[in-house]
Amino acid sequence: MYAVSPLRYPGAKWRLEKFIHSILLRNNLEGCHYAEPFAGGASLAISLLLRNFVSDIHLNDLDRSIFSFWKCVLSNTEEFIEKIECTPVTIDSWLQQKEIQNNKETATEAELGFSTFFLNRTNRSGILTAGVIGGKNQNGKWKIDARYNKKNLIQRIITISKEKNRVHLYQKDAIDFILTDGNQLPSKSFIYLDPPYYVKGQDLYLNAYQHSDHLQLANAVLKDLNRPWMVSYDNVSEIRDLFAEAKTTEEPYQLPYSASLERKGKEIFFLSPKLITEKELIHTSTRNKRVLDQERKAAQTPPDLVKKRPAPHQIQARTLGNGADTW
Ligand SMILES: C[S@@+](CC[C@H](N)C(=O)[O-])C[C@H]1O[C@@H](n2cnc3c(N)ncnc32)[C@H](O)[C@@H]1O
Repeated sequence: MYAVSPLRYPGAKWRLEKFIHSILLRNNLEGCHYAEPFAGGASLAISLLLRNFVSDIHLNDLDRSIFSFWKCVLSNTEEFIEKIECTPVTIDSWLQQKEIQNNKETATEAELGFSTFFLNRTNRSGILTAGVIGGKNQNGKWKIDARYNKKNLIQRIITISKEKNRVHLYQKDAIDFILTDGNQLPSKSFIYLDPPYYVKGQDLYLNAYQHSDHLQLANAVLKDLNRPWMVSYDNVSEIRDLFAEAKTTEEPYQLPYSASLERKGKEIFFLSPKLITEKELIHTSTRNKRVLDQERKAAQTPPDLVKKRPAPHQIQARTLGNGADTW
């Protein structure tokens, strides 16, 4: 397990790969279409795709900065890579990219996509509105390029772009996305929602939710979303109340190192009532052993879903027409 997204995101969810894979296996969803209505850096979606645990990923983010970044990576890969190669990682470049971000509604997609990438990699914690690593005078312990390994980042972009026919991009409000596109995905689909945190959200992301937005989202998911889903949140009473009727699981990370202790109890995960989780399987030991064996095997040899997948032109025919851009 390792980060595969070119974007840094506070609390990025790629560490959930194993957990989500076990849910997919246990619910006969392996090889499904997988959607993230709040995609951000989409680290989990990309991990699942590259491991062939899912056949297609649907990435939605309302933020024009994030959407533009993904669009550049998928549809103008070479141009984007060239821009990374020839842009020096200096305070002058940072100021230029900051200016573009400050005028994001008038910037072109290509300008904004690169500015998002540059600031995400050079700002503290990857937050677009935060200050530059090391400060403008560059007298901090870490310098502006501490998280900007060009070679490695370009490699991540190339790896993702090779799978562009399996990536579908949207720029919609998440509720709109789940009720239209989400509900129209093939029945064998899984939707993972990682909304802005209830408490910290306002500081971290460009689109901050208010209480009424969280309430509307909970209603849409619980009442109107008809595909299997999982939602992650900060573990606060307001959110537990909103999702009181959903199934919960608190610690899906299963990390062998201190990160799991740091996270313990801070996040909470809600699941579709029909999804079978690990705890339930513990009581059915024979089936449990079979599923665990399957999981172990899959972890060693990622399943060759290429054979099972429809050809790219079939994928496009199925998914275009519901608002998706398919590259
Ligand atoms: C918690 S982050 C997702 C992080 C992601 N799971 C990762 O691992 O990188 C939330 C994302 O939701 C997006 N967002 C905020 N409000 C939204 C809305 N109403 N509809 C769709 N996306 C939204 C933000 O732009 C942000 O990228």
